[in-house]
Amino acid sequence: MPVPSGHAKQSLMKSATQELPLPPPPGVKEGLPFVGPAMAFQKDPIGFLRRCQRKHGDVFTVNLLLFKATFVLGAEEQHRFFTARPDVLDFFTATVEASQALVGDLIRFRRLSEHEVTVNAVIRLGLMKTERLNVYLNAIRRVARQRFEAWADVPRIDLFHETSAMINQINVEALLGADTWAKHGETIANAYYDLEFNGIKPEAVAFPHFPSPAVRRCRRARDRVDVIMHELVEQRSIAPGDDYISLWLTQAPFDGEQPEVPELAAHLLGLFFAAHTNTTGTFAWTVANLAARPDLFERASAECEAHAARHGEAPPYPALRELNFLDACMRESVRQSFAVFLIRRALVPYSAGDFSVPEGQRVCVAPILTHMDPAVYEDPERFDPDRFADLSEARQLEREGAYVQFGLGAHRCLGEMFANAVLRAAWCIFFRDYEITLEDSELPPHDWTKTLGTAYPTRPVWAQVRRRELT
Ligand code: HEM
Repeated sequence: MPVPSGHAKQSLMKSATQELPLPPPPGVKEGLPFVGPAMAFQKDPIGFLRRCQRKHGDVFTVNLLLFKATFVLGAEEQHRFFTARPDVLDFFTATVEASQALVGDLIRFRRLSEHEVTVNAVIRLGLMKTERLNVYLNAIRRVARQRFEAWADVPRIDLFHETSAMINQINVEALLGADTWAKHGETIANAYYDLEFNGIKPEAVAFPHFPSPAVRRCRRARDRVDVIMHELVEQRSIAPGDDYISLWLTQAPFDGEQPEVPELAAHLLGLFFAAHTNTTGTFAWTVANLAARPDLFERASAECEAHAARHGEAPPYPALRELNFLDACMRESVRQSFAVFLIRRALVPYSAGDFSVPEGQRVCVAPILTHMDPAVYEDPERFDPDRFADLSEARQLEREGAYVQFGLGAHRCLGEMFANAVLRAAWCIFFRDYEITLEDSELPPHDWTKTLGTAYPTRPVWAQVRRRELT
């Protein structure tokens, strides 16, 4: 009988091992049986995930009560997660299910998810076309200026609270029209506050169908938004404007059919979540980080002044990309405050590390752990925008999965250009024309328990805003 050569032996052994089924990832045990891990995650998600990573490595499964989630950590696994084919890891149902108390009845999302390609094409038309962004910029600048003037008129502001209100107004005025904000602004802002605050409470996430007080508050808030959206859709069908709803009313993404009003309302509900928390956190952390470091604030002001001298005070969208220092400050702020996890559902068994995640299970990444890993970013707690001074290196980190801001692959953020227009236009006005003093120059730690997006601070950041003296 012929004896296999060394090389042939190796490949025989390899194919034999390949056929062995991989084991499921290790399950995490902590605290009380069954509920312990979910409670620990709810209390301090980052600390809990770090402990699990130290104990089990980069791949482990946690029972979060609503579902079991396998966390796949580290740049390499993150990259595989984002670039997995949609028939392997499903984005839509996983994301919508995880936020079900917020977004409500899943039936309204059925056709939106089934026609993802054509739906995303409409979103791109609405959020990524330079001509549209330039129209939105008028509303963005008007609202930002109006808000900053109001901030300068009062003794002090709660920076994150005020930013949240400003971003709500910008999103509504830019995407739904100034008339919508004038008529319904307060109702929409309060409803979103109620939804975000109650929709991520553990009882609402774990039992979105049980009528707990949090779930009932979410339902009432959603109903208020729905009434407004219905009214708006009817108005815009009679008298179209240049807003996002009017655009949708000219499109027929469901095999030539237009969305029904409840479907459009559901889309807008989801879109406004995506648009609110992350933009608020990015704006406010960047301002807070620079306010805490006057040398960096001066560099940002100087860049914005030079930019205005080159392009004027209200440049069109493409020129806003030329703000390299602000870009680095934004990346550094997001590095330290990114959302706690992103989620998919495994439609087939999914291999991660030496394990196989069973079909149907949720798979999560937590890029914030990589962002704060000293092996990737030296002294990760230090705020140092110059880490991102070289844009090509920054983009390389993104491609490798070691830095995540707007995601990667098929589900990369569709609002990235809109968010950049909002942030950069508003920052240009703020850093050029205003000064800010923090009441406490030591910034509070991040709190990942109160949002599904960019972290908020654990306590308010009080600040005094004043107009700059013109020299
Ligand atoms: C600084 C602000 C923002 C950040 C950091 C951000 C971040 C992200 C990230 C990380 C993802 C990928 C999620 C995943 O892979 O699971 C995403 C997706 C998405 N974002 Fe954003 N986002 C921001 C602003 C916005 C805005 C302003 C809008 C809309 C106006 C928006 C709309 C969306 C949508 C629709 C998706 C889903 C894309 C898909 O279905 O494939 N985002 N965003």
